[in-house]
Amino acid sequence: MCPSPLTIQTADADDAAAVRALAEQATAEAGSPVLNEQSLIALAGATDTAPIVLIARAGEAPVAAAVIEVADAASTLELVLPDGADAGPALLDAVLADDRVPADRPVLLWAHGRGSRTAPLAEGRGYEAIRSLYVLRRPGSLAVEDAPLPPGVELSTFRPGVDNADWLAVNAAAFATHAEQGRWSAADLQARIDEDWFDAAGFFLARSSGSGELLGFHWTKTERAEPGGPITVGEVYVIGIAPAAAGLRLGSALLAVGLRHLQDVGAPVVDLYVDGDNTGARALYANRGFAEHNLDVCYRIR
Ligand SMILES: CC(C)(COP(=O)(O)OP(=O)(O)OC[C@H]1O[C@@H](n2cnc3c(N)ncnc32)[C@H](O)[C@@H]1OP(=O)(O)O)[C@@H](O)C(=O)NCCC(=O)NCCS
Repeated sequence: MCPSPLTIQTADADDAAAVRALAEQATAEAGSPVLNEQSLIALAGATDTAPIVLIARAGEAPVAAAVIEVADAASTLELVLPDGADAGPALLDAVLADDRVPADRPVLLWAHGRGSRTAPLAEGRGYEAIRSLYVLRRPGSLAVEDAPLPPGVELSTFRPGVDNADWLAVNAAAFATHAEQGRWSAADLQARIDEDWFDAAGFFLARSSGSGELLGFHWTKTERAEPGGPITVGEVYVIGIAPAAAGLRLGSALLAVGLRHLQDVGAPVVDLYVDGDNTGARALYANRGFAEHNLDVCYRIR
């Protein structure tokens, strides 16, 4: 029997469940998520920016998808390529030909995890790898070293609706050179606060005890296989220090506070994502029990 011809179309609201099912299948096969958290939240319609989604069908059956986020500096692309159809090359060609993807700006393709189907496709087409994002992992039971807060600094936890603006300002300043994290909007923050996993008790703020100024934060996250089930992974979700407070060992202190919290709630392992070229953060995590666990690679395809 001849294989059904492949067609590629823009996915509409009716295709959302099919795209999520393809992503779940590809994730299970690859051993790590094929879409990042931002895409999953955007696909669920919880942010103010909607991605472009292309869906590939063999005959009637959805077989693969591409999720494209168009932004000022560059467009980013993730492919959902479950076993079966060889739809990757056709999806890449469709993205590059799509006139909603600005032709005068870079298009960046993410390959998530070492089991990614996207990486061999990108390598095969000779695309240049321009960024490495490491997943580091540490056993949750490892003793957390003492790291006192600098003098004149007070610890508190995040108050939704009260601390939002302060947090957005320090996040933007700390991550000014970071493509995604630095441009989080109020809606991006709110979308996370509204997630089931959100727990203000694991979202730590460090403020000046005199002025109350926010100097830094460590937001931890926990994942569970099913709601109410045991924690499967703890995460150093976002840690950032206001540039004016950098180098005071506040990062070390906040890291320890968050690791201790994740230990207290029973996280068996602690993961974090760090850019290969983020010297400061890599120095912070070095010698604190984190080992390389996985790798995401970003390719420039235009
Ligand atoms: C990474 C960051 C949290 C570190 O906070 P900090 O308060 O400046 O760090 P500390 O003063 O506690 O220093 C911790 C260690 O990192 C080292 N370090 C900090 N910044 C550094 C830099 N820019 N270059 C090299 N080493 C650096 C310190 O020397 C120290 O090393 P040691 O433990 O061997 O003595 C802070 O620089 C930051 O907010 N960066 C931008 C946001 C970011 O990248 N977050 C992490 C995302 S994964």
